[in-house]
Amino acid sequence: MQQVSDGNLSFDIDKLWSDLQTKVDRMMVQIGDKSPHVARGDGIYDNNPTDAWTSGFWPGMLWIMYDMTGKEHYKQAAWHWDRNIEEHFVKPSNLYHDVGFQFLPTAVIKYKLTGDADARRIGLEAANFLAGRFNIAGNFIRAWNTIPGAWHEGNTGWAIIDCMMNLPLLFWASEELKDPRFKHIAMAHAETALKHFIREDGSSCHICCFDPETGEFIREIGGQGYAAGSAWSRGTGWALYGFSAMYRMTGQIRFLDAAKRVAHFFVANLEEDNIPLWDFRVDDREEAPRDTSAAALAASGLIDISKYVPASQAKLYINKAKDILRSLTHNYSTWDQPDHQAILLQGTGHKPLGSNINVSLIYGDYYYLEAIAKLMGWNKNMF
Ligand code: GLY
Repeated sequence: MQQVSDGNLSFDIDKLWSDLQTKVDRMMVQIGDKSPHVARGDGIYDNNPTDAWTSGFWPGMLWIMYDMTGKEHYKQAAWHWDRNIEEHFVKPSNLYHDVGFQFLPTAVIKYKLTGDADARRIGLEAANFLAGRFNIAGNFIRAWNTIPGAWHEGNTGWAIIDCMMNLPLLFWASEELKDPRFKHIAMAHAETALKHFIREDGSSCHICCFDPETGEFIREIGGQGYAAGSAWSRGTGWALYGFSAMYRMTGQIRFLDAAKRVAHFFVANLEEDNIPLWDFRVDDREEAPRDTSAAALAASGLIDISKYVPASQAKLYINKAKDILRSLTHNYSTWDQPDHQAILLQGTGHKPLGSNINVSLIYGDYYYLEAIAKLMGWNKNMF
């Protein structure tokens, strides 16, 4: 039995993994055909439109379960999701830069695990779509779409840190087609992110605004974070994980250095229970909600970093990942609520808009499960 117990709390990772299987089996019945995004106080996951950026996470959880256990029912439940989401390419919809979040845990993993040719086609279609959003003057992938009245109106020249997580889709397409065009776009976007988003102290801004005609950097915007100059914790997590993925895909040490710098900022600014507030630089810390989704995705990214650094450095990253996962498991999970359809509690979606605060978020559940699977030896990174 593998014990993970280097803090005040301990957990038995084999038992946790077995509990997670039971939990996901129950979620399959509870969630059915829904595309879950948010579960509130009643513990029931909503049914979100499948063009939303979150639509890949539930099928991603099923594919990890299938890969780890070989059990067919996970594969059967995950199978149709790439086609469901793909439908939005041929009708009015709101797909944007986040197609990586949607198709890496559906089409791409499906193709990798089953060799299904149609899944490959869909993955490549998504990569072409993402590549088509590249602004060559500013070397960035454009965020979101133009929607009059939306909070991000006027965003033609905006790029966001979250998009680092979509770049593995472009590397996969380059490898699959033996054509470096996609990879060049990913590299160019990552260089821009390194230059403009990641600050000296390892924090990251959420949005950078460029002149879409000239590509000139104009300013940073607080976006889903507290303010310009603040440090949105989920965005910091996307940067940590995204730059570590860039290192995995390129072998270029400056990307690993960036991931480490961001990780040090993230770890140094956690609350005592190893979970971050929704933004590391809020004024009223007493009133600020936490964001367990940021904690879960950072834990998964920290596990990756621990594999890429020399053994003498690895402990810092892996131990902190375990501290975070232990805290999520003991303090922020629904193990004692079998009717609750989610795994984690206390996620924060979009605090400045006042939306989805103190809720369960499917991406928090996904990255928690992914991180535990990595501790159990799963090594087929989707992101
Ligand atoms: N990609 C959007 C978010 O993290 O909320």
